[in-house]
Amino acid sequence: MRALAQDVFRYCAPGTFAKTPRRLKQWYNIWLKISRREQHGHDCGRHAAEHGFPDTSMNTILIGAQWGDEGKGKIVDVLTAGADVIVRYQGGSNAGHTVIAEGKRRVLRLVPSGILHEGKVCLIGNGVVMNPCDLADEIEALRATGVECSGRLFIASRSHMVMLWHRALDMADEAMRSQGSKIGTTGRGIGPAYASKVSRTGLRCGDMLAPDFPDRVREGVAETNRILRSMPLGDFRLSVPGCTVRDNQLDADELVGIYETVSRKLSPFVIDSIPFLRKAQEDGRDILLEGAQGTMLDIDFGTYPFVTSSNPTAGGACVGSGIPPRAIDRVVGCIKAYTTRVGEGPFPTELFDDDGRRLAERGHEFGAVTGRPRRCGWFDGVVARYARQINGIDYWALTKLDVLDDFDEIKICTAYELDGRTIEDMPASAAELARCRPIYETMPGWKEKTSDITDMAQLPPKARAYVERLVEVAGAKLGILSIGPARESTIVMI
Ligand code: GDP
Ligand code: IMO
Ligand code: MG
Repeated sequence: MRALAQDVFRYCAPGTFAKTPRRLKQWYNIWLKISRREQHGHDCGRHAAEHGFPDTSMNTILIGAQWGDEGKGKIVDVLTAGADVIVRYQGGSNAGHTVIAEGKRRVLRLVPSGILHEGKVCLIGNGVVMNPCDLADEIEALRATGVECSGRLFIASRSHMVMLWHRALDMADEAMRSQGSKIGTTGRGIGPAYASKVSRTGLRCGDMLAPDFPDRVREGVAETNRILRSMPLGDFRLSVPGCTVRDNQLDADELVGIYETVSRKLSPFVIDSIPFLRKAQEDGRDILLEGAQGTMLDIDFGTYPFVTSSNPTAGGACVGSGIPPRAIDRVVGCIKAYTTRVGEGPFPTELFDDDGRRLAERGHEFGAVTGRPRRCGWFDGVVARYARQINGIDYWALTKLDVLDDFDEIKICTAYELDGRTIEDMPASAAELARCRPIYETMPGWKEKTSDITDMAQLPPKARAYVERLVEVAGAKLGILSIGPARESTIVMI
């Protein structure tokens, strides 16, 4: 106890002990940090204090551990109960995060899933590529269902914009790719927007307010029209939702008008996010960083080139928000009790049989954004272990266990066979992964409904055995178990 008290004093700056609820919360966070340090044998928070960062907020990264659609929206919504500020840090409106709360189902694309909790503040971080038209629509749709974003949603001025021409280029590029080299993108302009960002020609949200913004829109349209003319599009007829396309060409006047309207709507939301997040940390606010997509779609660590164009992994959370790595306290990996993938690319445990069809049906596996059917397969322990390593996952949020309620037998992939060898690590190349055959362990199904249970003790023994084996194969600890799409169908242990 004495050691604990000493630690508390070491963690706290002098003069922070006023008896306010906020201070009490800070004390609680400090205690959590210390107990975590003891548990994990490393000093997770003190470094940040030594480097001049306030160290009383509890900062969590939530990432997708598979190929996206793991249920991140639902888990962020659940974790938001214990957070103050929720930050999306990468991706764009390619994401579709479903939250079912108070009987309403909402799909969030750009707005952090924490927005549905009154009083919580949300930020679209600098790492996001934000389509202003999509965001304006999303804010409007939320307002129509009683959720007001004004004063609670902010956009980092450093975040880049996905312009309508990026969508045009995304669709034209995908159409031109031959079978086998198609990515199966969401057509939301994500790749071209990130390409503009790294080639230093992108438009940032802060640019919406600049007087030369209309000129830059005209330049973007002119350049895109030039590229489209040079592409061998043949009979392909480009169609971009939200604007007119004639002879595969965009209209600069129309786009200037669209962006004039939309920037008027969005500019009140744009802020410099760095002082905003510093203040949040100084005030001991708990920050939740919401990942989109998933580890296997990461531009560096995923199944390149069948990936998205950002870093959904935990490292991306720091780059995409400006929160230093040492201020991160825990990483939660969201993972389904089986695997899905939408779009092209290798997927070793994919099923083409009745089991695959049943997973798709029972799990309602259709894309939240595109409505495309998701490919389904058994749980892949190689993917999970790889995700644990890349992201430094402390806890799993295991979702959709209820989808397996009806199966006689359930399989877990524990390793791959590649060219006659057994491998336990994820191969670096997509071509090698495509040649991998899963090595399975088979477990008995529990054939009982799990969606009504409220604590782990009520889990049928065979379901518990499946969860325990899955966590053993993956490593880390189970922190959350989700057994239904609604907020209530969740057992939180962290
Ligand atoms: P995200 O992109 O990771 O946020 O996931 P999506 O929202 O695209 O897809 C997850 C789907 O599974 C949504 O329809 C959720 O409502 C649903 N879902 C989330 N958790 C559970 C769960 O534990 N059980 C069931 N049956 N559905 C779930
Ligand atoms: P959430 O956040 C699942 C996939 C696309 C395609 C590839 C590249 O809801 O989990 P992009 O449009 O990003 O250039 O497409 O990535 N993809 C997703 N798959 N969930 C997502 O987001 C995805 N976002 C992109 O299907 O294969
Ligand atoms: Mg999704």
